[in-house]
Amino acid sequence: MQCSWKAVILLGLVSIAIQYTAIRTFTGKPFQICPVPNPLNCSPGPEAEAFGGLCDEFPYFFYNNSRKTHILILATTRSGSSFVGQLFNQHSDIFYLFEPLYHVQSTLIPHFTHSRNMADRRVMLGASRDLLRSLYDCDLFFLESYIKPQPANHTTDKLFRRGASKALCSPPVCDVLSPSEAYLAEGECIRKCASLNLTLAAESCREKRHVAIKTVRIPEISDLRALIEDPRLNLKVIQLVRDPRGILASRIETFRDTYRLWRIWRATGRKPYNLDLTQLSTVCEDILRSITTGFSRPSWLRGRYILVRYEDLARNPLQKTREIYEFLGLSMEKSVEEWIQNNTRSTNDISARHKYGTVRDSAANAESWRLKLSHEIVEHTQSVCQQVLEELGYRSVNSREELRNMSVSVVEDKTFVPFL
Ligand SMILES: *[C@@H]1O[C@H](CO)[C@@H](O)[C@H](O)[C@H]1NC(C)=O
Ligand SMILES: *[C@@H]1O[C@H](CO)[C@@H](O)[C@H](O)[C@H]1NC(C)=O
Ligand SMILES: *[C@@H]1O[C@H](CO)[C@@H](O)[C@H](O)[C@H]1NC(C)=O
Ligand SMILES: *[C@@H]1O[C@H](CO)[C@@H](O)[C@H](O)[C@H]1NC(C)=O
Ligand SMILES: *[C@@H]1O[C@H](CO)[C@@H](O)[C@H](O)[C@H]1NC(C)=O
Repeated sequence: MQCSWKAVILLGLVSIAIQYTAIRTFTGKPFQICPVPNPLNCSPGPEAEAFGGLCDEFPYFFYNNSRKTHILILATTRSGSSFVGQLFNQHSDIFYLFEPLYHVQSTLIPHFTHSRNMADRRVMLGASRDLLRSLYDCDLFFLESYIKPQPANHTTDKLFRRGASKALCSPPVCDVLSPSEAYLAEGECIRKCASLNLTLAAESCREKRHVAIKTVRIPEISDLRALIEDPRLNLKVIQLVRDPRGILASRIETFRDTYRLWRIWRATGRKPYNLDLTQLSTVCEDILRSITTGFSRPSWLRGRYILVRYEDLARNPLQKTREIYEFLGLSMEKSVEEWIQNNTRSTNDISARHKYGTVRDSAANAESWRLKLSHEIVEHTQSVCQQVLEELGYRSVNSREELRNMSVSVVEDKTFVPFL
């Protein structure tokens, strides 16, 4: 595929300020001078000649020939993001981190609930962006100021969900195994591997070509704009969405305390007067803002954003994963395919035991919320999230019969063409 030179110039213009800083930061490191491999990760066409001229006009137009692609999975709690994370964790050339922003949140806003106020958001966002930037650069020491207790000698046993990251549970980071052995399952990793040596972890990160980070702690895509526009990061965002009714049902099951009043509503049929409705409306407002931005195709998102519905992944995991890898411009490994096969055939009993385990939901039960929520709660969700449902192709149900009739899916066939 070729890139339009206009797009390249546009991107160049937008990011000149960033580039300028980039050059100063990169002092001492070699970098490639024009003509550039274009920043949109597609091969330069016949127009590549034009870049020669561009260089003279824009002396700050530098690119690194072998830039890493970095990946961010932007999701919402209980939307299947652990599963999507695994699609990258299983790749041998990707360094994967599971929710590193957890540490930012627990330090800055310890009494966080699933609704968020604007002040909390601003506090979180600045710090989160700085941390992400450092992590994509494999600077794991930056994380230390958020880990409690603060790591001594760059080692810690308090990294959130260390076990979800393959690189952190295999040699050389975890050296209880010989290099030929496979990595440990999550619980085993925590039990057997000694404290995490962050120096070793950072080395392991640098040895991989790509870094993938999953987060449910960034509200919407626009919050990432500064990172997406930073040419050093070469960031690509996978926005994972799910039917809000499915998200709600899953949260009610999982977060028993936080969603206690929803369970009471479901059980008694009476809506508790003090029910926190923002737990739901925030989810839908954030998704709506993100997809509205995505659908409007601003130039800063070109080639950098793909929208994925969880239900499509559940229906056809292998094909969907191939599409995602293709969008990223990475080759999909056999190990990723194998992992998908191992984990999607039926409900896998090992992963099912863990609260955040990967594939509890196969295609068949991606819609299992229809048996778990009461019709009143479904109606309420449909009215709060109406626009999200429409935009994403999730059909509303109008009666109890329709809700429970599982032979008719409420997920419409819908294709979201990536913006290339
Ligand atoms: C380009 O970036 C990669 C990864 O960050 C780095 O290893 C390499 O040395 C850089 N190459 C040049 C020519 O700057
Ligand atoms: C850190 O390393 C130093 C020197 O090796 C050692 O004296 C100290 O006890 C270590 N601190 C902790 C908390 O392990
Ligand atoms: C962590 O690993 C580095 C690099 O191998 C090593 O130099 C350092 O001593 C290790 N730290 C501890 C506390 O073992
Ligand atoms: C898939 O399952 C087989 C058989 O249990 C196992 O040997 C293999 O390591 C698994 N592969 C992955 C990538 O999980
Ligand atoms: C479910 O819906 C289908 C299609 O509308 C209908 O033919 C079928 O009778 C319904 N099943 C039940 C149990 O209501």
